[in-house]
Amino acid sequence: MLEHEIKIPASQAKCYPIEIGTDTLGELWPRIEADFNGYNKFVVTDENLVSAGHLGKLLGKSDVPAFVISPPGEISKNIDTAVSIIETMEKAYLGRDTLVVALGGGTVGDIAGFAAAVFKRGVPVIQIPTTTVAQADSSVGGKTGVDSSVSKNAFGAFWHPAAVYIDVATLTTLDDRQFKAGLVESVKHALIADSEYFDFLQNNLDAVLDRNSDVLEKITHFNCKIKGNVVEADPCEQNKRRILNYGHTIGHAVETASGFELLHGEAVAIGIIGAGMIEIELKLAPQERLERVRQILEKLDVPVKLPPNLAEKDLIDLIKHDKKAVNKWPRFVLLNDIGQVYCPDGQYAVDVAPELAEKVLKKL
Ligand SMILES: NC(=O)c1ccc[n+]([C@@H]2O[C@H](COP(=O)([O-])OP(=O)(O)OC[C@H]3O[C@@H](n4cnc5c(N)ncnc54)[C@H](O)[C@@H]3O)[C@@H](O)[C@H]2O)c1
Ligand SMILES: [Zn+2]
Repeated sequence: MLEHEIKIPASQAKCYPIEIGTDTLGELWPRIEADFNGYNKFVVTDENLVSAGHLGKLLGKSDVPAFVISPPGEISKNIDTAVSIIETMEKAYLGRDTLVVALGGGTVGDIAGFAAAVFKRGVPVIQIPTTTVAQADSSVGGKTGVDSSVSKNAFGAFWHPAAVYIDVATLTTLDDRQFKAGLVESVKHALIADSEYFDFLQNNLDAVLDRNSDVLEKITHFNCKIKGNVVEADPCEQNKRRILNYGHTIGHAVETASGFELLHGEAVAIGIIGAGMIEIELKLAPQERLERVRQILEKLDVPVKLPPNLAEKDLIDLIKHDKKAVNKWPRFVLLNDIGQVYCPDGQYAVDVAPELAEKVLKKL
């Protein structure tokens, strides 16, 4: 037998800036031109960002090729859209010196990031997130992807952005239901990592709901720090990154069982309450802790109970299909306290008996 070994140098350390401000979108383009001099820019956005005036504000009079996703939303987050984006770049004679700029919510960011990851074996992408989901969660962390007809994010790549620019003023045009549901990821961040942040959210929720820009900047800063720390510690989801899944094991099942009638954040809100009830059953938490969490979610106007048409048996079956399941049952992320994940023996996700999960779902 002949043998030969190939040594690949440790992958280059990645580091990228996240800038958070208010009304910064209109001043951004000259900065991008200067900071990424030498790159041909290509913008990916969706119809709603165009009609809300955000694309016009970003580009001003600059003549930059753009791909406008239509219809907006999850329905277009598929491989066909990624192919259209790539072919549009090719037809515009763009090559490896392309910089993709994603302006929009999580679907735009995920599709544009994925297209950038595979175009000519990878070109840089900048994220300019415009929803509460994208500003708190999807723009940071480097997960990109599109759905297949069978499952979400079936095609994907870890592709970290070259920079993230967040203008919280873009949120003023976001519809109320989307705005509030996206804030559930902020509550999740506070619960898994920072009790001071939880207090801040509780004390400033009216200002958040009024879309006060100072407060939105502060919570965005908390969110990016928390998500950034977790991603730095575990960029490819070996262990610690799983804590971001808090509330998602039940949440994903509820989202699917609702036929996607519930927004992701709304389903995760129910999942967070479910996780809290499991914590009480396992004597990890007193009842009062769950009441604090419930209060904040109720104020966000998101559901905190299972819709009556969802059967526990169906939910248990969906939980068995969770993509993180091993031997047909996933582990759960639970809390020791607000701001602290329960982590016995260094494991961030723990066994919960299916019977206990079923008992909790019955009460939920
Ligand atoms: N990559 C990750 O780590 C990660 C994390 C969380 C979620 N996600 C993904 O993100 C997606 C959900 O993100 P989302 O909730 O931002 O969805 P989205 O991008 O579909 O945005 C929701 C709706 O709001 C509109 N919109 C966006 N910004 C707007 C603005 N400023 N004003 C008016 N309308 C605006 C969009 O056109 C869309 O209709 C899902 O596909 C999910 O899988 C990815
Ligand atoms: Zn989520």
